[in-house]
Amino acid sequence: MIKIFKLKNIISIKDFEKEDIDYILDEASKLENIAKSREVSEELKGKILGLMFFEPSTRTRMSFETSMKRLNGECIGFESSGSSSVSKGESIADTAKMFEGYCDALVIRHELEGVSKFISDIVDVPVINAGDGAGQHPTQTLLDLYTIRKVIGKIDDLKIALVGDLKFGRTVHSLSNALGLYKNVKIYLVSPPELKMPEEVLHDINKTNITWEEVDSIEKIIDDVDVLYVTRIQKERFADIEDYMKIKGAYIINKKMLEGKDLIVMHPLPRIDEIDTDVDNTKYNKYFTQAANAVPVRMAILKTLIKNNPK
Ligand code: NCD
Repeated sequence: MIKIFKLKNIISIKDFEKEDIDYILDEASKLENIAKSREVSEELKGKILGLMFFEPSTRTRMSFETSMKRLNGECIGFESSGSSSVSKGESIADTAKMFEGYCDALVIRHELEGVSKFISDIVDVPVINAGDGAGQHPTQTLLDLYTIRKVIGKIDDLKIALVGDLKFGRTVHSLSNALGLYKNVKIYLVSPPELKMPEEVLHDINKTNITWEEVDSIEKIIDDVDVLYVTRIQKERFADIEDYMKIKGAYIINKKMLEGKDLIVMHPLPRIDEIDTDVDNTKYNKYFTQAANAVPVRMAILKTLIKNNPK
């Protein structure tokens, strides 16, 4: 059977079926050699990717750019609202329409939930959500799953602790949704009471086979988990900075806590102080591997969407 990838846009991981995820992960495996050996393939020669980053980003923007270049395509775009005509009062809709005229696909990051979806409804080229507020971050989830599959060899039958800011952290929202497609997954939700996983996400995962449990300390679950997925407290999403100061540094992972454990540590990055740097040179550190895996996974996404939807 010839496999096809059905989605035109990547807005929410909830739009994916398991076979769609497998398609991208398998394609990423095939492209990994090019990424690792720093080569360039001709797959997207002459194509242009539009990067509309209204919110700051290092890894996501750079890895999309690298991925496009490894496929011999090019990028145009802006890296903050301040450096686009939105700062002069142009609407997001008009800006997106401009980009549609120049590009073969658009990547959008914005502080408001739903902006990528809005843009995908008004342009004809594929739209990729690179993070919308505290909503979704589907391409991060694809590279998280790729990393888990590659390092542990499977995604079924795992116990995964999501640690930190589960309220505002969009990466853990998308990841929880995706894990619902796998068998026998247990999620431990480890967060301060103020930053618990939102009801809507719990509602979604209750419709799947995931079992989950909220816990208030890492010590309670560290002997039981295969993956510690650590996140940053999302300072920029707090209305009152005092509230942030109260919970800052609530959970910190260090080398000593991990000794003798059979697990990996992941983090979408950037890290502030959640993972002590003494973990960096241990076998537990998979967060830099995860960041590097962004390239083959985003190459797979760009190749698939742009080739499937020629202008
Ligand atoms: C994350 C994001 O932007 O949501 N970073 C990323 O894309 N790798 C995590 C974060 O900002 O904390």
